[in-house]
Amino acid sequence: MILEPEKFRNFEHAGWESIPAGYHDAFGGLTGQSIRPLLDAARVKSGMTFLDIASGPGYVAAEAAKRGATVLGVDFSPAMVAQAQQLYPGIEFREGDAEQLPLGNGLFDAAAMNFGILHLGHPEKALVEAHRVLREGGRFAFSVWAKPEETIGFGIVLRAVEAYGEPRVELPEGPPFFRFSDAEECRRGLIVAGFESPMLTRVSQVWRLPAEDGLFNAMKDSTVRTAGLLRAQKPTVLNKIRDAMREELQEYTKKDVVELPMPALIASGVKS
Ligand SMILES: C[S@@+](CC[C@H](N)C(=O)[O-])C[C@H]1O[C@@H](n2cnc3c(N)ncnc32)[C@H](O)[C@@H]1O
Repeated sequence: MILEPEKFRNFEHAGWESIPAGYHDAFGGLTGQSIRPLLDAARVKSGMTFLDIASGPGYVAAEAAKRGATVLGVDFSPAMVAQAQQLYPGIEFREGDAEQLPLGNGLFDAAAMNFGILHLGHPEKALVEAHRVLREGGRFAFSVWAKPEETIGFGIVLRAVEAYGEPRVELPEGPPFFRFSDAEECRRGLIVAGFESPMLTRVSQVWRLPAEDGLFNAMKDSTVRTAGLLRAQKPTVLNKIRDAMREELQEYTKKDVVELPMPALIASGVKS
C-alpha cells in the first residue's frame, strides 16, 4: 500500500466538513469520557495556557476552560470550528492544521489532542508541532482508540465488512487507523518528536447507542474513513453488513440501547 498523505488529508477534510452535527450526536458522549484523564495527563490547571488540537466540537477546550485555563481550540475544518464556536461561545476556536499549526513557538503550558492523531496523514509532523508550541516543561497528551479486539464497536463493523464486503475499496491510503493503539508506538512517536518521560494510561469507556442500527448509522453517517468504506459497498452488500452487525450487537443490547466497551489509550510526554 502506498500512502497518499495529501489525498488522504483532502478526503478527511471533506468528510469532517460534512458531519459536525452527526459526530456530535453519535460520538460526543463517547469521546467526552476521555477528557478528564487526558487533561490530567497534560496536568491542566487554573491559570495555564492550553491548546486543544483537532478540537472538533470543542469538548476538551470547554473542560480545560472550566478548570480555569486560558484556552485556544484549533481544527482544520471550518464547519467543526463553527460548531465549537456555537457550542462554547466564550472560548476561542480557530482554523488550523495540526501538522502545521498557525502559532508561534513556546506559547502554551499544555496541549492535548483527543482522538485526532488517527485522522492525520503525517501524525509525526503533528507531534513535532505540539512540541514546538509548548514552553519548556509543558506537557502534551493525546488519546487513541484501543485495538479493534477491545473497541467492540470497531471490531463489529470491521468483521462484518471483512465477512460480507469488499474491504479493499478505492479510498486514499492513510496511515493505519490503529497504529497508535500500540503503547510502544505511542512512546516511540513522543520520543522521536522530542518529548521526554512518556506515560501511558488506559481508559474504560462505554458507547451507548440506539439498539439494532445505532452502530451501523453512526459508522456510516458520522465517521470519515469507516463511512467511506461502508458507502463504497454495493447496496445488497451493505444490507448484509448491517444484518451481521445487528446479529453481533444482540449480546450488548439492553432493552432499546446497546452498550459497547470502547477503551482508549492516553499517551503523554513532557517538553524538556
Ligand atoms: C474524531 S474528531 C475529534 C474531535 C474532538 N477532539 C473530540 O474530542 O471529540 C477528529 C477531529 O480532527 C480534526 N482534524 C482531522 N485532521 C486534522 C488536521 N490535519 N488538522 C486539524 N484538525 C484535524 C477533524 O476536523 C475533527 O474535528
